[in-house]
Amino acid sequence: MIKFVDKTEHKTINMRAKIVAGNWKMNNDLDESKSLVKKIAKSIKKQPLENTRVIVAPTYVSLQKVASKAKGTKVEVAAQNMHFEKSGAFTGEISATMLKSVGVHIVILGHSERREYFGETDALLAKKVDAALANKMEIIFCFGEVLADRKAGNHFKVVESQIKNGLFHLEAGAWKNIILAYEPVWAIGTGETASPEQAQEMHAFIRKIVADKYGNDVAENVSVLYGGSVKPSNAREIFSKPDVDGGLIGGAALNIDDFKAIIEAI
Ligand code: PGA
Repeated sequence: MIKFVDKTEHKTINMRAKIVAGNWKMNNDLDESKSLVKKIAKSIKKQPLENTRVIVAPTYVSLQKVASKAKGTKVEVAAQNMHFEKSGAFTGEISATMLKSVGVHIVILGHSERREYFGETDALLAKKVDAALANKMEIIFCFGEVLADRKAGNHFKVVESQIKNGLFHLEAGAWKNIILAYEPVWAIGTGETASPEQAQEMHAFIRKIVADKYGNDVAENVSVLYGGSVKPSNAREIFSKPDVDGGLIGGAALNIDDFKAIIEAI
């Protein structure tokens, strides 16, 4: 969030950040990751990128190297997941303090693939949210309905309950570290995208439920990203919607030309 003073009105205006975040999922080995982050950093070096953030989320094994390559560039680095405990007998898991020790201050939580394939529930995610915030990390919190929910007209209800259960126990002040990502599951990796109107309708709804709970100031300042088959050919139109503040990009984030075009679209 960037605050600036409107000279004509003499008051402070909040402007939420635009964000393009690439979720690399289980793709790219170490060399590929280092090379991709280098290319991204180079491609945006001369762009003004006012109030716009570019984030990449590599796999755990590449995080440290990618974070050190990204240092001093306009690229920020996020983890794709983390455990809620600080340390202990949790084979295969990584904690917030470990992420921070390699220079990572952002974490994606609640991605639909984590929910679906790894059984992550709203209650578990709420614990992860608390652990991330306790460690002063920023969270990209994902949620979204499956196709059956949309077909049955339950999509608003599902999204509302995922947001409530994961985040509504927080105090208003914590929301400066929250980025929301609406990702309709039927649009992830399928080539099928929500129409810009469907995205705007849901994003406006999300902002409204946040406003109802926390007030307009929090709601107007939280960035709400859209995710699900964003590509160069549809990014501009989706990003042009007033409540869409950017995208969480999967497949198209793996290709420098596509990712660059999506950054240009914003
Ligand atoms: P996709 O993935 O762009 O490949 O649909 C988006 C995501 O899962 O974040």
